[in-house]
Amino acid sequence: MFHPLERLHLLFDGYQRAFKVGSVELLLIQEAEQVYLIENRCPHMDAPLTFASVRGDVIRCPMHGIEFNLKTGAGNTPAPLAPIKTYVPIYEGNMIGIDVATIT
Ligand code: FES
Repeated sequence: MFHPLERLHLLFDGYQRAFKVGSVELLLIQEAEQVYLIENRCPHMDAPLTFASVRGDVIRCPMHGIEFNLKTGAGNTPAPLAPIKTYVPIYEGNMIGIDVATIT
């Protein structure tokens, strides 16, 4: 089931906005004309990624500086670290959103 998050015309490079769907915190990002939808929680120590710096397809956690690939969720640490949870943005009409069935 589609859950709308944002109007498409409000997206721009540098856009970041946090949403809560059910019990899941999400972060919608547009950078370099690419849109990413991730869980708004760093897998290192659970810090929110709101206000994280984004460059290309890399997001840098503001807490300790670990960088994660926005496409794969993988971190750049040598030590094992769970990836950031990524979601596929869904487009419907003039809205971008998420399929709530994909939220776990
Ligand atoms: S909480 Fe994100 S790098 Fe430590």
